[in-house]
Amino acid sequence: MTSSRPHTANAWAVILAAGSGTRLADALRLAGGPQRKQYLKLDGAPLFWRSARTFARLQGVRGLVFVFPPEDLDAMRAEVERLYGRDPLGLPWKACAGGARRQDSVRLGLGQVPGEAGAVLVHDAARPFASAALARRVLGALGEGCAAAIPGVVVTDTIKRVDVDDKVVETPERASLRAVQTPQGFALGPLLQAHARAEAEGWEVTDDAALMERAGHAVAVVQGEEGNVKITNPADLELLRPVAAAAPRTAWGYDVHRYVAEGEDDPRVLAKARPMVLGGVAIPGGPRVLAHSDGDVLLHALTDALLGIACAGDIGQLFPDTDAAFDNMPSAIFVAEGLRRVRQAGYRPMHADVTIVAQVPKVGPHKARIAAQVAQLLELPPDAVNVKATTEEGLGFTGEKRGMKAVAVVTALPDAL
Ligand code: CTP
Ligand code: MG
Repeated sequence: MTSSRPHTANAWAVILAAGSGTRLADALRLAGGPQRKQYLKLDGAPLFWRSARTFARLQGVRGLVFVFPPEDLDAMRAEVERLYGRDPLGLPWKACAGGARRQDSVRLGLGQVPGEAGAVLVHDAARPFASAALARRVLGALGEGCAAAIPGVVVTDTIKRVDVDDKVVETPERASLRAVQTPQGFALGPLLQAHARAEAEGWEVTDDAALMERAGHAVAVVQGEEGNVKITNPADLELLRPVAAAAPRTAWGYDVHRYVAEGEDDPRVLAKARPMVLGGVAIPGGPRVLAHSDGDVLLHALTDALLGIACAGDIGQLFPDTDAAFDNMPSAIFVAEGLRRVRQAGYRPMHADVTIVAQVPKVGPHKARIAAQVAQLLELPPDAVNVKATTEEGLGFTGEKRGMKAVAVVTALPDAL
């Protein structure tokens, strides 16, 4: 059976998001994620939206049909409206309820495609990485006159056919096998007919191409994409991690504290005078430091570096010095909060390098203890923290012994690495 050339300049895409995601349900429940995999977030929008955006980039695609679980239809219609408001795709869209089997969902989705459409792309929302180039290839093959075109990749595993007892029945020749994907492209009329026959005659299939095969149509296979994975099992969730999180982060922190001048007698100033602490280590004999908290200049710089990793602003935002609650607060608490933010952002510190800049006191003798203490605060091994000290050769406010400063650089890796 042959068919006339489908009109691929007027194609609609049916995006299937009506499955129950059984194989991922437990993992999603444990992770506190959405109930169904098609609602997982990718770049801030549910998975199915990625496919919608991909199809909207194709010239021939004139509209979209979203197929959702019946019980979610109203909520998802509102969600698509919201997404369109934020990210207008410039295409008409419809949404409908799916059915128990994938093939039912496709049939119901096809019911929404306008009769004048020439071709249809049927796509699993669970394959968010399919590219526009792939969809173009599929439409291109349809345009050459096939009633069905599907993406396929060569298989690298040897495939066995087994019986109900898991005994091998046969080993098909690998070179002739293809693992097929979506989007699958069809001439609309023949696909509707094939679905109608499947309904009438009780055919059970796992993709639409199988219906077309049974109905006697030639199905062309175009080159698929290795990256066009169907999010199916818990291990696939790794693929949805934000790309940005795959890169290490380095951040910097800086802080200055003034010393209490010799002979200072203003009680308001003296109320803020703290004995010197650096990295949580008391420095006996050092000048007193003016501060709202305990005045640990090093831990303040370190906290800002941690907040830099987490993209969480700065220490002043988190712990305003107008807030009496932080009066004489041990700065280890700031570091702990910085660390919590880093972890919340999906990173873990690997290394810290801190420099104390002061004319007085001599910091050298305390460096090892400070490094050990900072390592403990960051939950790092001691050899992952370096403490340096320098003077500014008598120049500037540190040179004039009016205060000290510290800088900290922290490097962190995303949890995924
Ligand atoms: N799908 C659908 N309607 C169904 C079953 C599946 O629309 N009754 C959709 C899924 O939402 C998915 C695609 O078909 O986008 C491929 O199906 P699959 O990966 O098997 O998803 P689920 O059926 O949801 O997952 P599972 O098989 O683990 O339950
Ligand atoms: Mg399924």
